[in-house]
Amino acid sequence: MAVKTFISVLFLCSILSSTSFLSHSYNYYPQIKPCKELVFYFHDILYKGNNRNNATAVIVGAPEWGNKTAVAEPFNFEDLVVFNDPITLDNNLHSPPVGRAQGMYVYDQQNTYSAWFSFSFVFNSTEHKGSLNFVGANPLLNKTTDISVIGGLVIFSWLEGFPL
Ligand SMILES: *[C@@H]1O[C@H](CO)[C@@H](O)[C@H](O)[C@H]1NC(C)=O
Ligand SMILES: *[C@@H]1O[C@H](CO)[C@@H](O)[C@H](O)[C@H]1NC(C)=O
Ligand SMILES: *[C@@H]1O[C@H](CO)[C@@H](O)[C@H](O)[C@H]1NC(C)=O
Ligand SMILES: *[C@@H]1O[C@H](CO)[C@@H](O)[C@H](O)[C@H]1NC(C)=O
Repeated sequence: MAVKTFISVLFLCSILSSTSFLSHSYNYYPQIKPCKELVFYFHDILYKGNNRNNATAVIVGAPEWGNKTAVAEPFNFEDLVVFNDPITLDNNLHSPPVGRAQGMYVYDQQNTYSAWFSFSFVFNSTEHKGSLNFVGANPLLNKTTDISVIGGLVIFSWLEGFPL
């Protein structure tokens, strides 16, 4: 899973919006463009009964016809997963993590793969500190998804002009 986050340093670096706000150029502030594109990867390895050592996500709630070691049929519907995934700067699980993606998702449709996410990026590295909070629906079959950044306190040491 990869989440692209656009952050504007206008407005004293408040996180202006989700990607949808910026990429769809709503009329409110059409002049605002993202000044920085941040790319992070987080790696979700679901517990399947035999990978306790490297699983980063676990089904904690399953429907009556399912269980916690296999996703429910159909479409994982009603499985609730809690995760704590490493965040890396490239698409490599084994790269040094810059933080953890922590939260949960619940599969919420009976007729397609779709989930509702609520999680934070908690950064803890030399160059990245703080957290970003995300909430939103994720149509999992779509190549890209917009998820709202609903808040956060971040310090990225390389963000020029960031008022520390
Ligand atoms: C998880 O660990 C097992 C062995 O302990 C290994 O075979 C497997 O490749 C690992 N999975 C990932 C995604 O690293
Ligand atoms: C969980 O469900 C899967 C798929 O139905 C089944 O193969 C597995 O045996 C079940 N595991 C447990 C612990 O009940
Ligand atoms: C951040 O990393 C440092 C150094 O590895 C560690 O001591 C500290 O406990 C970590 N903090 C959090 C919140 O993970
Ligand atoms: C998912 O993709 C389809 C087709 O590209 C698009 O019509 C739909 O609006 C997307 N759904 C969401 C929630 O973004």
